Amino acid sequence: MRDTQNLKEWSEHTMCHVRKSHLFGAICLITCFILSLNFYCPRMGLDGMSMASSSPPVCGGRVPHDTITPLKGQRTFIISAYKDNRRKNIIRILGIVHHKEVKELYCYFCCNSNTNASTTRAEIDIHKDRFGFPYGLANIICTEPPDCRAEFISVHWSPSEVVHNLTSFRIRNREPGQFTANFTVCISTMYGNYSNVLQFIQTIEMYKILGAQKVMVYLNNCSRQMEEVLQYYTEEGTVEVIPWHIQRYLKVTKNWQYRNDDTEIGYYGQISALNDCLYRNMYSSKFVVLNDQDEIILPFKHRTWDTMMESLQRENPNVGIFLFENHIFPNTLVSDGNFTNTSSWNRVPGSNLLQYIHREPAHPIFIKARKMIVDPRAVIQTSVHYTPKQYKNSKNIPLGTALVHHCKGPKQPQLPRAALIEDKTIWRYNGSLISNVNRMLKRFTRKT
Ligand SMILES: *[C@@H]1O[C@H](CO)[C@@H](O)[C@H](O)[C@H]1NC(C)=O
Ligand SMILES: *[C@@H]1O[C@H](CO)[C@@H](O)[C@H](O)[C@H]1NC(C)=O
Ligand SMILES: *[C@@H]1O[C@H](CO)[C@@H](O)[C@H](O)[C@H]1NC(C)=O
Ligand SMILES: *[C@@H]1O[C@H](CO)[C@@H](O)[C@H](O)[C@H]1NC(C)=O
Ligand SMILES: *[C@@H]1O[C@H](CO)[C@@H](O)[C@H](O)[C@H]1NC(C)=O
Ligand SMILES: *[C@@H]1O[C@H](CO)[C@@H](O)[C@H](O)[C@H]1NC(C)=O
Ligand SMILES: *[C@@H]1O[C@H](CO)[C@@H](O)[C@H](O)[C@H]1NC(C)=O
Ligand SMILES: *[C@@H]1O[C@H](CO)[C@@H](O)[C@H](O)[C@H]1NC(C)=O
Repeated sequence: MRDTQNLKEWSEHTMCHVRKSHLFGAICLITCFILSLNFYCPRMGLDGMSMASSSPPVCGGRVPHDTITPLKGQRTFIISAYKDNRRKNIIRILGIVHHKEVKELYCYFCCNSNTNASTTRAEIDIHKDRFGFPYGLANIICTEPPDCRAEFISVHWSPSEVVHNLTSFRIRNREPGQFTANFTVCISTMYGNYSNVLQFIQTIEMYKILGAQKVMVYLNNCSRQMEEVLQYYTEEGTVEVIPWHIQRYLKVTKNWQYRNDDTEIGYYGQISALNDCLYRNMYSSKFVVLNDQDEIILPFKHRTWDTMMESLQRENPNVGIFLFENHIFPNTLVSDGNFTNTSSWNRVPGSNLLQYIHREPAHPIFIKARKMIVDPRAVIQTSVHYTPKQYKNSKNIPLGTALVHHCKGPKQPQLPRAALIEDKTIWRYNGSLISNVNRMLKRFTRKT
């Protein structure tokens, strides 16, 4: 699925290269006319060079070419801008800022005809979970001027810049539209040559069986084969990859907490990615599932997320944030399920989820690392294990209903085997999981 922003960037890119020729110029204008049904056309001429002399002067400047855009010398990085009229008519820009040094920012709205910019001072609301790092997620909030219907917005620390010189961000969520998914899974930052291919394929197939239509992956780094798997699922329409090269701009760490070193942001900017995912899917997904790539929220009482959430919502009409206990299935204790038709899996690197059916008993700390299914429209800001700002209540869902199946290295390695709890819930899905993974592998191998 090609995002409209990408399409726009693609078309601008193409236009830049063909602009000089008259023949192509004509094609340009036709294309431009077609595109203008969706996008603002005169912006195709960049840097003030309008394509047709009759075009009005452009307002904002170049569009970003990456998910993260540094504002030069300003210790501010912009991710994206979202309209948010749930309570007030505001534009919420998600950015990463230095918490001490960024005190003043201004929004430049390209209003109506895009010929004139209107400037307002932004409120900077830094996310409370910065974990000691100097940089954190900021909600840069601007009130849209009355009678202004901006498609693009720019940000700068000074209110008197020439707007053509600033990067323009398209304001998303302008038209709420309809749900295209019941469940969208947000996987925060895949990094460090991630190569657990088999577990990832099984996990995506499980999400689909449970009811997901879409999985968003904020991709920092993964192995070659994993890239091909992501490509396969992108073409299938299940996965959307958001490039997340945060280390181009900031010194990142794998730790979640600051350790007095020279790093600038924790865990590859996980909180920023999760909030961006939440807002991207605010109006297109009924629910958003916030977890990592090695986690699956597994229902006990129901077979799918649809029926589980229907029942949870009916019982808890004021709840918009559902929190599920995290339980570790250590990948060191292998059990044989003796399943047939899984021989093709031996060629695929990574763990086989069907072999991990023992979980560690609840640990007072790790169990609280809850993961969430949220109604995104009920959330203002999210963290990893809870939401710090929201419009509806949160509720801890008891283990009897579901758990977060978290397959990874042991958290309590000292425990004897007998202390682990046998839990074969994932085997309930063996039939559809095995045939879906096999079908995927067959098509995938044919392609690569
Ligand atoms: C541009 O906007 C400003 C403030 O919104 C207004 O004072 C000015 O007259 C406008 N200029 C044009 C050419 O519309
Ligand atoms: C805007 O950009 C132009 C050319 O790119 C430059 O000459 C000018 O100084 C810039 N203006 C400001 C206020 O930065
Ligand atoms: C969402 O779920 C409903 C009922 O469970 C189903 O009819 C509908 O097709 C689903 N929507 C999407 C986009 O898959
Ligand atoms: C991951 O990092 C390696 C080593 O730096 C690099 O060669 C590779 O291209 C990166 N892959 C992606 C998907 O960014
Ligand atoms: C990434 O992982 C793959 C598979 O485990 C391995 O073959 C490759 O050498 C790794 N690449 C880097 C740059 O570490
Ligand atoms: C595995 O299953 C086959 C039949 O599908 C059976 O003959 C065999 O005894 C089973 N092995 C174990 C260890 O359960
Ligand atoms: C194994 O797969 C074959 C074809 O893919 C199918 O006919 C057979 O029923 C499967 N066996 C089991 C036990 O699922
Ligand atoms: C596999 O799933 C079927 C239902 O789809 C179930 O009857 C069977 O018991 C499961 N197998 C195991 C080993 O759990």
